[in-house]
Amino acid sequence: MGLLGLGTVGGGVARLLREHPDRIDRRAGRPIELAAVAVRDRGRPRAQELKDIRFADTAESVVNDPSIDVIIETIGGVTDARRLVLAALANGKHVATANKALLAEHGAEIFAQARRFDRAVAFEGSVGGGIPIVQALGVSLAANQIQSLAAILNGTCNYILTRMTGDGMAYAHALAEAQRLGYAEADPTLDVDGTDTVHKLAILVQLAFETSVAPGAIPTRGIDALDVADITYAGELGHAVKLLALARLSDAGLELRVGPTLVKHGTPLAEVRGPYNAVRVVGDALGDALFQGRGAGAMPTASAVVGDLIDIAAGRALATSRIRAYWPANAPPPVLAPPSQIKSRYYLRFTIADQPGVLARIAHILGDHGISIASVIQHDSGDDAPEASPVPLVIMTHLAIQAGVDSALALINRLDVVHAPSVCMRVEE
Ligand code: HSE
Repeated sequence: MGLLGLGTVGGGVARLLREHPDRIDRRAGRPIELAAVAVRDRGRPRAQELKDIRFADTAESVVNDPSIDVIIETIGGVTDARRLVLAALANGKHVATANKALLAEHGAEIFAQARRFDRAVAFEGSVGGGIPIVQALGVSLAANQIQSLAAILNGTCNYILTRMTGDGMAYAHALAEAQRLGYAEADPTLDVDGTDTVHKLAILVQLAFETSVAPGAIPTRGIDALDVADITYAGELGHAVKLLALARLSDAGLELRVGPTLVKHGTPLAEVRGPYNAVRVVGDALGDALFQGRGAGAMPTASAVVGDLIDIAAGRALATSRIRAYWPANAPPPVLAPPSQIKSRYYLRFTIADQPGVLARIAHILGDHGISIASVIQHDSGDDAPEASPVPLVIMTHLAIQAGVDSALALINRLDVVHAPSVCMRVEE
């Protein structure tokens, strides 16, 4: 076996293989040898237990080595990973990868190559860290029509939101901690802007709905523009704010989105804290199930990747790759539910002039669009505040149609008494 990359995930894989060779070989049904490791920078300091590892001169020499039959790709990024994975498959090697960007963006090409050379591509480590959600959706729940998925898929974002909510920690400080703890991507922008989550959602959609959706076709917002005030108001309304990935099948089509979402306190997803991930799955036979576990970090992800390696060695991964045929060629894109058919409750925050008639004007526009108000928060700014100075007005709606909310907000944002673009988040019960 050859390992590409010895960063957070690759380092965890090497450690697991070296610390527990007996149980891994026994469960694989054959000995697994870490024959070569390719890294970008050999001079980088390594953990003590990885000091004597045998480094290859180049990644190419590993994927071209005829004595190696499995490649584990943990280098991340898309350009080099794509080239090396395609070459490894062409050279007759099976591949285990934790690279969600690679699969979300180039899944069709990677799996076409795997089929051409009759090799397995296993990717449990690409979504949900240590949670076995790929195997669950691809194999264990294969008898179901999945009806919906609601998921927290980025440990870094969940860690940041947890620290901002519970400890009042500043965003930048919480992000730095998540990076220090090894949860974040090499470029943490991909975590906080929602890219990492939408890549993972695209993979789950392939598994659950047998359809290939380009990540760019999924409406996506991250937590990078989230104001801590909205976390506080959401709390007053009995909700936590989570970066939620959602996929829901209805007669109108598939609803897909990623964004900060209000989730009611006391429901399982609202209680997922720190770097944990969770996926709530509803299937027609299953009913609902919640998968929860550590979604980021070296050893949880290594647990998933080495599980794939065992599956490959045991011959199961190739059977799954052949039969499930992920990312089929020329698959039609999914039918997406139009905004006129999508219903949800909404959290809205307006920054308005504190003067007579403003609340009435906003309520009037919402009413004209069929949007009913469920709760309102406006804190008293006192009689000494300068007249017409901007104040926040928070509204939670009853179920409303997305297209109506979009049109109403466009009108409200144009009012002269509205001082800043309105904030709008979905609410999931
Ligand atoms: N950066 C990712 C996260 C790691 O924070 O969840 C796992 O993909």
